[in-house]
Amino acid sequence: MTKKIQCLISAGPTREWIDPVRFISNPSSGKMGYALAEEAVARGFEVDLVSGPVSLSAPPGVRLHLVVTADEMEKTMRELFDRAHLVIMTAAVCDHRPRKQWSEKLSKEDFPKHLEWVKNNDIIRGLSAERKNGQKIIGFAAETTNTMAHAAEKLASKGLDWIAMNDVADKNIGFASDFNEVTLLSRSGESIPLGRKSKKEIAKGILDHVWP
Ligand code: PMT
Repeated sequence: MTKKIQCLISAGPTREWIDPVRFISNPSSGKMGYALAEEAVARGFEVDLVSGPVSLSAPPGVRLHLVVTADEMEKTMRELFDRAHLVIMTAAVCDHRPRKQWSEKLSKEDFPKHLEWVKNNDIIRGLSAERKNGQKIIGFAAETTNTMAHAAEKLASKGLDWIAMNDVADKNIGFASDFNEVTLLSRSGESIPLGRKSKKEIAKGILDHVWP
């Protein structure tokens, strides 16, 4: 019996808490990652989906791991990484968290005028530094300016096999939309525009290229 492809996908935003009722985050809905998870299951892959807070139901057949913060997402991705053949990070991980998290709700009067921030770890960079032979790692690049140059820089500096660039300045695609427009860049120099399509179709296009 052939061994099933193990696919590890991250989706959705992370939340970084200030106090028990306030956090910073971003508009990721999880739609891109959940579409990829659904398509990977349809192709016979075993799928672990690590998801930040979204209002979607897990596609049937997916093993869902719910997380909230970037630290929790990193820990869960690391636990699942060893057995993965293919890793795809669509998650919009917050790059920073407040240095201090208050354990009780701050009153309006006590709310600080300035917050100090600490950097979260770059999850995909850490995973790619520890990859074993044969593991493929795919990132997404959410860009608003110099889109191709920034995506190419992330592809190289994070040590990825492919990166899917989407221009999130375009309100009709990217964050929260049912549609996306992605250009796939590979470490070997390919640049493949997938066109403007539903996230379901984009997911098919991505998997066709990264795991043919
Ligand atoms: O969820 P949807 O509403 O469907 O929207 C989809 C999307 C716009 C969120 C998705 O298509 C997308 O672009 N995801 C990547 C968002 C992002 O954080 O991009 P980035 O360019 O900042 O990060 C580059 C890569 O590094 C990403 O794969 C990201 O998951 C990863 N990263 C980033 C920061 C961090 N601390 N750790 C990471 O692993």
